[in-house]
Amino acid sequence: MQGSGTCRDVCNDLDIPCLSWDIHQGFDACNPAEFSATDAFDFIWSHPPYWRQKLYADDPRDLSRSPTLEHFLRRYGQFLRNCARALKPGGKLAVLMGDYSDREEGFVPLVYHTKRLAFAAGLRQCCTDIVRFSHGASGSKKTYRTSFIPGLHDTCVVFERPAASERSRP
Ligand SMILES: C[S@@+](CC[C@H](N)C(=O)[O-])C[C@H]1O[C@@H](n2cnc3c(N)ncnc32)[C@H](O)[C@@H]1O
Repeated sequence: MQGSGTCRDVCNDLDIPCLSWDIHQGFDACNPAEFSATDAFDFIWSHPPYWRQKLYADDPRDLSRSPTLEHFLRRYGQFLRNCARALKPGGKLAVLMGDYSDREEGFVPLVYHTKRLAFAAGLRQCCTDIVRFSHGASGSKKTYRTSFIPGLHDTCVVFERPAASERSRP
């Protein structure tokens, strides 16, 4: 889910070996057959779509094209399981995610769902939430006609794949 490739560019600057893909090149990160690496990565950075807040590729496999929330969460959960499997024991997965709302679905706590699905994939959160404020976003300047709290931040959650000896720890 590299988008324009910011993470890859930073890795190149820091001389860190990096593999980076996107649905725009035909790579579906939610497909376990395509994302089949095991015990391979020290660190995975990901910035998935906030469901349909913004549409990305003209491809039904793009998470932002998920027709229902249930469909989005099913595929997002598979993505997180793919990442968990691809990490080395002790490896980290950082996910940048924001909550979402629209008239049809109401408020959708996507950061909560990220944690729920990552924990179910056997990962554990290994540091406090990192909050990215977006005070410059257009939503911070609008006046709303109804009572409504605009989402002006997103959250980076860092998970860890426990080492084999720690897996049974709650
Ligand atoms: C929030 S954007 C990432 C933006 C990125 N951080 C940047 O610097 O441009 C989400 C990305 O996920 C990609 N994406 C959506 N569904 C995907 C899938 N199933 N497999 C791989 N990439 C996917 C989209 O094409 C989009 O580029």
